Amino acid sequence: MELVQDTFRSPLVKVKGVPLIKYFAEMVGPIQSFQAWPDDVLISTYPKSGTTWLSEILEMIYQGGDLQKCHRAPIYMRVPFLEFNGPGAPSGLEILKDTPAPRLLKTHLPLDLIPQSLLDQKVKVIYVARNAKDVAVSYYHFYKMAKGHPDPGTWDSFLEKFMDGQVSYGSWYQHVQEWWELSRTHPVLYLFYEDLKENPKSEIRKILEFLGHSVSEETVDHIVQHTSFKEMKKNPMTNYTTIPTEFMDQNISPFMRKGIVGDWKSAFTVAQNERFDAHYAKKMAGYKLNFRWQL
Ligand code: A3P
Repeated sequence: MELVQDTFRSPLVKVKGVPLIKYFAEMVGPIQSFQAWPDDVLISTYPKSGTTWLSEILEMIYQGGDLQKCHRAPIYMRVPFLEFNGPGAPSGLEILKDTPAPRLLKTHLPLDLIPQSLLDQKVKVIYVARNAKDVAVSYYHFYKMAKGHPDPGTWDSFLEKFMDGQVSYGSWYQHVQEWWELSRTHPVLYLFYEDLKENPKSEIRKILEFLGHSVSEETVDHIVQHTSFKEMKKNPMTNYTTIPTEFMDQNISPFMRKGIVGDWKSAFTVAQNERFDAHYAKKMAGYKLNFRWQL
């Protein structure tokens, strides 16, 4: 019981300057010897950017649209979370040991902390980025329900920490920029949550092309339908209800919360928005990355 208590609300631990949940910080060393395979596909995201959504889309592609196969296990078992570690659950590395090729895996780590083997093996990366305001709001609710995080405090204080990169996984600004830069030298498909929301079919086609997979038009439609927010919210294999309440309390906030673009408008005050925009302009200066705040 003490061990479980210990996971609650521990302060973040910095690894090479990046704040991480204590248990994940402990894994940064061990994952460095992870051996990637050339046919691995890495899903990389800053938290709350649509990781689970992209994971289910990829799983559906890999399983040829077979729902039964996608129902075989929760998403975190089908798409192992590289740096995951916590009491009473297998680590990401342990799950990966038992995962046959071709593997899908996910990480939220900044580039500096990923295993070199992923780069050496030229593992294909699919990155999904989401506008910073919606990420901040989603992250605040996630901090409240996922108790491995420190207490988020008030929304106002959380927003300050987010802007300052003092939340788990550090700076959103740096994350979206450095993975964008990686695409100059490495196979990266860089997607946006807002595009996926607006036109999932065309984004799924981009994914298929990047992977060199082909599925029928009918299967693409089936994937779009099965990975809609409404479907994923009621699917126990994607909605994280298989995680015990002491770790993720969905009564506080469901994992599948709203799934929309522009929810930040319900949380940001006018003053917060002005402050955020000024800070954002400075942090993103010189980058061509264009995020949409609403559809
Ligand atoms: P909200 O909190 O804004 O609702 P991640 O998987 O990276 O943790 O991201 C979680 C966010 O993606 C949550 O955002 C969640 O609701 C949203 N999401 C999950 N599945 C989705 C889907 N199929 N369509 C749209 N949004 C989805």
